This record gives sequence, structure tokens and C-alpha cells, in this order.
Amino acid sequence: MDLRDKPTGLDRLRRSEVGRSIWRAPDRATPRDRAAGHWSNFFLHIYPVKMQRREIGIRYSWYLGAMSTVLFGSLVASGIYLMFFYVPSPVQAYSNIQSIQTEVAFGQYIRNVHRWSAHLMVLIVAAHMARVFYRGAYKKPKEFNWVIGVVLLALTLLMSFTGYLLPWDQLAYWAVTVGTEMAAYVPFIGDTVREILLGGTTVGSATLLRFYVLHVAVLPTLIVLTLSIHLWRWRKDAMLEIDREEPDV
Ligand code: HEM
Repeated sequence: MDLRDKPTGLDRLRRSEVGRSIWRAPDRATPRDRAAGHWSNFFLHIYPVKMQRREIGIRYSWYLGAMSTVLFGSLVASGIYLMFFYVPSPVQAYSNIQSIQTEVAFGQYIRNVHRWSAHLMVLIVAAHMARVFYRGAYKKPKEFNWVIGVVLLALTLLMSFTGYLLPWDQLAYWAVTVGTEMAAYVPFIGDTVREILLGGTTVGSATLLRFYVLHVAVLPTLIVLTLSIHLWRWRKDAMLEIDREEPDV
């Protein structure tokens, strides 16, 4: 991956006795050596072994995909903390949120981290999708990853929607009432979808439980699985693409 020709001070350090005790592949003379340097570096090995030079630069991807992944990680971490203090029942949910805000150690801070990460994730994922579109990065051999991306977008939006009900206040109640009413307008299956989501005909305790299970277990698991395929394909596709002659931009 190293594209410089002239050895630098760092290169000389890497080739010294001390350097070789730290870095496993100090000599980057051949493509094989360079690949070995890549595999043995914790941070670099996230990238494909071979990829186009332009794809590494910030101006190609703006690291929006990476940012989405970090935001998802932040949501999982802060969400787990909140789970210790929240019970998904109509009697307790609202007061649990109040005590998270006022009594729980770091409660207000962690709740804000969770909310802001959620808002930002929707924004950044949309920006990532727009970047992929305007770059034409959905084209061969990356078409399948675009489809996987659409699934990730849907899962991200569903995470937002299901999380919205959990504070169990007026805003949450009416937002989900309106959202599920809209779902009922889908031809043929609309009413069934609405009933499955609500667990009845109106927003109630069954709805809160369903949204909670979707929000903390089902959707995050689906995101982890889908994201694994997304990132695996990104690595493989970038290596395939190296064979296509494309000018640097
Ligand atoms: C949870 C949401 C998502 C996460 C965490 C995510 C993460 C990533 C990451 C880390 C990369 C590699 C680096 C980069 O190109 O920025 C990537 C690439 C890609 N993503 Fe996503 N992504 C998400 C949603 C989407 C969506 C909604 C689409 C489009 C519908 C999409 C399509 C693609 C494509 C086609 C690539 C390959 C781009 C290239 O090689 O230039 N992704 N994604």
C-alpha cells in the first residue's frame, strides 16, 4: 500500500534492528512485502490489500461510511447503558426516562449521546448514500453492495422510528400513531402491517413492548449482520476494481 519511492527516515527506522523488533514487515520492496506490511498493521488491515490510490483519500469517500459505523457503535454502547434503567411498560417508561435525566449517574449525558448519535446517523448514512451515488460508486462490481446499503438505510430508519416511542410521552405516542396510520395505507398488506406493529388496533402496552424488542434486539442484530456483509463486500469489490484501468481524480 505504501506508494512512496524514496526511503524516508521512518523507512530507515523500520529497517533498523529496533524497527524490525516492532514492525513485522520492515522491507516493502516487493508487492508481497507491502501486502505483509498491510496485514500486520491493525489499522491498515481494515482496508483491502489492493485498492485504487484515490479511494484512500478523504476527498473520495469523506469517510462517511466509517462515520456511520462509529455512530452505530456509539448507539450500541450508550443504548446498553440506558437499558439498565429502563423498563418497557406504560406504567414505568415515562418515569424511568425522567429519572435517567435527573437521578442516574451520567444519565442525561448518555441519553444525549444516544439521541444525537441517532440523529447524526440518519444524516450521515443519507450523506454516505448520496456520496456513493454522485461518485458512481454503485456501478459494477459494487451493485450488490448498493442493494445491501438500501437494506441498511431501511434498518437505520426503522431504528429511529422504534426508538421514538420509548420515552412514552405525548410526542412519542402521537408520532407512532401517525406513522402506523400511514403504514396502513400500503395497498393490500397495510392493515396487517399496522396490526403487527401495534400488537392491536391502537398504540398500547403491546406496541411499547414490540418496539422495544425491535429496537434493542432484532434491528441491531440485523444491522450487525448486514453491515458485516457490506464491509466484507466493500473490501472484496475494491480489490476487484483495481484491475479496471481508471484515471486518478
Ligand atoms: C448503517 C448504514 C451504513 C454503514 C454503517 C455503511 C458503511 C460503509 C463503509 C464503512 C464503507 C466503506 C468506506 C466508504 O466508502 O465510506 C461503505 C461503502 C459503501 N456503501 Fe455503505 N454504509 C451504510 C449505508 C449505505 C447505504 C444506505 C448505501 C446505498 C444505498 C451504501 C452503499 C455503499 C457502497 C456502494 C459502498 C462502496 C463504495 C465505494 O467503494 O466507493 N451504504 N459503507
